Amino acid sequence: MTEYADGSVVDGVHYHQFDIVIVGAGGAGMRAAIEAGPKANTAVISKLYPTRSHTGAAQGGMAAALANVEEDNWEWHTFDTVKGGDYLVDQDAAEVLAKEAIDAIYDLENMGLPFNRTPDGKIDQRRFGGHTRDHGKAPVRRACYAADRTGHMILQTLYQNCVKFGINFFNEYYVLDLVMVSDGFGGQKPAGVVAFELATGDIHVFQAKAVIFATGGFGKIYKTTSNAHTLTGDGVGIVWRKGLPLEDMEFYQFHPTGLAGLGILLSEAARGEGAILRNSEGERFMERYAPTIKDLAPRDIVARCMALEIREGRGAGPHKDYVYLDITHLDPAVIDAKLPDITEFARTYLGVEPYTEPVPVLPTAHYAMGGIPTNIQAEVLSDNTTVVPGLYAAGECACVSVHGSNRLGTNSLLDINVFGKRAGNSAAEYVKTAEWVELPEDPAAGVRTLVENARNSNGTERIAIIRRELQESMDRNAQVFRTEESLTEVTEVIHNLRERYKNILVQDKGKRFNTDLLEAIELGFLLDLAEVVVYSARNRKESRGAHMREDFPTRDDVNHMQHTMAYLSGDPMSADAGDHIRLDWKPVVVTRYQPMERKY
Ligand code: FUM
Repeated sequence: MTEYADGSVVDGVHYHQFDIVIVGAGGAGMRAAIEAGPKANTAVISKLYPTRSHTGAAQGGMAAALANVEEDNWEWHTFDTVKGGDYLVDQDAAEVLAKEAIDAIYDLENMGLPFNRTPDGKIDQRRFGGHTRDHGKAPVRRACYAADRTGHMILQTLYQNCVKFGINFFNEYYVLDLVMVSDGFGGQKPAGVVAFELATGDIHVFQAKAVIFATGGFGKIYKTTSNAHTLTGDGVGIVWRKGLPLEDMEFYQFHPTGLAGLGILLSEAARGEGAILRNSEGERFMERYAPTIKDLAPRDIVARCMALEIREGRGAGPHKDYVYLDITHLDPAVIDAKLPDITEFARTYLGVEPYTEPVPVLPTAHYAMGGIPTNIQAEVLSDNTTVVPGLYAAGECACVSVHGSNRLGTNSLLDINVFGKRAGNSAAEYVKTAEWVELPEDPAAGVRTLVENARNSNGTERIAIIRRELQESMDRNAQVFRTEESLTEVTEVIHNLRERYKNILVQDKGKRFNTDLLEAIELGFLLDLAEVVVYSARNRKESRGAHMREDFPTRDDVNHMQHTMAYLSGDPMSADAGDHIRLDWKPVVVTRYQPMERKY
């Protein structure tokens, strides 16, 4: 057995040893690090510089029933989360989320986060979609915020605190493999991860007793998206390739207000502050669909209503293909104080002046409700109930499942803080007694092969073209509305693209900052995950939350109030790509809220 001592270099591969390795330096990863770092030797590995992580793009706020500006409580928050998720939410997880929200906000305040304040100095709160007073009676001010830069402030605050605690960061290291070994009881457990150093092209093995995945989402499977170019689902894809299941992948959220044609996010905070959605006739159409909370209905509903308005000919613009977000009635001083970034985006990217003109908007792919299944301790599951010892996930890459089939706005910044903290604590507790797990012989072999195969790709297919065709087909066929026909079409596209992916061209053969190589590998993850999304969507023959099957337009609680569990059961590169995904179901945890009709 080869010994891989910390700091050694064996056959050109660098070896490191940490108690806990956290993959991803967004909000969930860094929140986990702040818990774990003081208790155990912890490293955070990220393909980005931490403050470039996508948490920084989150705008409008973080929910917590502080009741600073009006009556509120965590039970109402729990109920809204369950109803907002169309009753696919695991209710024990929703209770944890809503209860621990209060401390999560005060933790951030104590770390130095500059929240907006009420005149009497409390943390200010604003309205957001689906958050209501007393079980749906009226919108409630629950979102704590820092102008429309809440995610940015959270990311900076968490990073500064990680620096304070001396967390070890490996920035611009791209994790490509999870090393799994036998746990001695017929299952598997992690022994570490393998990463590719972008600056040098060197391979690094990080041996660890515990691994936390906090790698964010995979919005780049779609063309019109609020997600950064980097959100290619690598962490979710790695876990998938290891044979672990993915949960509820068909539920992908479309945020109603992306800048038309671009997908850049215009925060729902605008509607929280009073903005109105209008069709080409100037009508406030949400009054028809959600008479009680109107423009502040949950995102799945608003996005679908916008699509319907356009489909029925009431879209605006020369091609009648968007609707308007109107903030012209708001005081410019309020706009400048509370929505400075998004109004600047409208000016910069569309040349529209929001003080005086309505802004063209269209739903944009925003957030994955599904991902790596975990329990409420953030422990990863290898089936409906079995914990993988030493493996954790938190944030968008995970499915705990606190968002069910549709996440409420501001519950994701909350999720990363609550479950990031839980992941850090769970891992720190675990490593107190866990033994080191021996690395297998040549643990870098898989990554070496992956990287060298990509580098030596001398085919004729362009990576950007395959990616674009995938994204366009996903936009066309697996967006707000889906049918068996549209999902079958995109399935065939993905199978065809997979074949073409075998014949890609990577022009850059170099080792340093080889983004050509990076994008080739990322495309592989995108293809894998798009396929799981589509297979899971085909299998769910009902409409629930963000998954609207026009051929099965109603929610079917009898047969489908269950989570989808997808398993890799064969070679994804095989000719008949359909054979390699097995789909199963997992019961929803119901504690106090039985499913009801979802009216707003
Ligand atoms: O609209 C927004 O500010 C987005 C918030 C969220 O996704 O939670």
